[in-house]
Amino acid sequence: MAAISSVLLQLCSSGGHVVASTTLYGGTYALLSHFLPRTCNITTTFVDITDHEAVKNAIVHGRTKVLFFESMSNPTLNVADIPELSKLAHEKGITVVVDNTFSPMVLSPAGLGADVVVHSISKFISGGADVIESAVCGPVRLVNSMMDLHQGALMLLGPTMNAKVAFELSERISHLGLRMKEHCRRAIEYAIRMKELGLLVVYPGLEDHLQHQLLNSMANKGYGFGGLLCVDMESEERANRLMHHLQNSSQFGFIAVSLGYYETLMSCSDSSTSSELNAKEKALAGISTGLVRMSIGYTGTLEQKWSQFEKAISRMRDSSTLFEIEGFGIRGLIEPLESTDITLKHLLKLFHGSGPPRHPWSRPMISLHFSDK
Ligand SMILES: Cc1ncc(COP(=O)(O)O)c(C=O)c1O
Ligand SMILES: *[C@@H]1O[C@H](CO)[C@@H](O)[C@H](O)[C@H]1NC(C)=O
Ligand SMILES: *[C@@H]1O[C@H](CO)[C@@H](O)[C@H](O)[C@H]1NC(C)=O
Repeated sequence: MAAISSVLLQLCSSGGHVVASTTLYGGTYALLSHFLPRTCNITTTFVDITDHEAVKNAIVHGRTKVLFFESMSNPTLNVADIPELSKLAHEKGITVVVDNTFSPMVLSPAGLGADVVVHSISKFISGGADVIESAVCGPVRLVNSMMDLHQGALMLLGPTMNAKVAFELSERISHLGLRMKEHCRRAIEYAIRMKELGLLVVYPGLEDHLQHQLLNSMANKGYGFGGLLCVDMESEERANRLMHHLQNSSQFGFIAVSLGYYETLMSCSDSSTSSELNAKEKALAGISTGLVRMSIGYTGTLEQKWSQFEKAISRMRDSSTLFEIEGFGIRGLIEPLESTDITLKHLLKLFHGSGPPRHPWSRPMISLHFSDK
């Protein structure tokens, strides 16, 4: 946040305007929508950055100073078209600031046209979830202006990195590439397998992701498609139950809001890292209540960890009730709290999603009878 706030304060003066993506980390969203307008009269128009016409239309001649977006959005994993967005911003004389926290090594926004790249170092770059730091990468002129004795946001607000921490971080940069490759290798493998289990998976490495081709065209070869994936469990209750089993029944990962750690971290974005957005803003950003964000770690072997995932899923099933639709040869599972308002469509979906039960006779069973309606 120090990187983001300092660079925005450096590039914008009172009365200035920012055009930003509707889907941003909750803290960045709060900075732009609440803090900067109140304290500095710097206002922001939020737009869907996949809609380039909307971005153009939001730019106010003479007032807009910055176009701000995340290369891969938190938590929805939309991928920004960095070359196109940079081109249209530059045509209007606007500085492009990209938050690349989700995709170090995978994407190099500066090489794709961005003017300034910011990173939360607390995530993948640190890799240890043990420091809270950030970085601004930009032209020498900007960096020098940020350290100006009279006008520099870094000089005057003082978010200076501790020299010992800086040294320690510099020792981790050389294996960032290796770490990213392994985060990405496991993320895509799990994304494929989770999809095969019938889960609703969002991962930019999958061909069904809207910006898969775009990411492929921008990504540095050999690193993969990012270490984060999302699973939409369709309700907060199911999201929490899945995370509970993944943490407490099988040790697949930890329920925690950070990312980029060597262990897998999971959070329900709606109620945690995106809680700064109200319901309408979350809907615009595409954040549903059951969305589970997973930052895939790399401890243990891939197969060991996957068997923990499967164990958690089967535990989740074990706490559910078997149903049978007589005369149709259909059997499936109803999960707790979902058994009140059941339609045939719902049952078929559950049946489809959960697959055949493993131990069909070991649990209570209900039978359903349908009239010809
Ligand atoms: C995309 C993104 N940018 C910035 C931040 C802020 O980082 P920090 O907590 O290191 O200030 C976060 C934190 O989650 C993030 O996800
Ligand atoms: C804030 O900026 C706008 C746009 O430049 C200006 O019209 C307005 O007067 C400013 N408000 C304050 C309180 O300075
Ligand atoms: C779940 O696991 C975590 C981490 O190991 C532990 O701190 C917590 O107490 C456990 N919670 C329950 C309800 O078992």
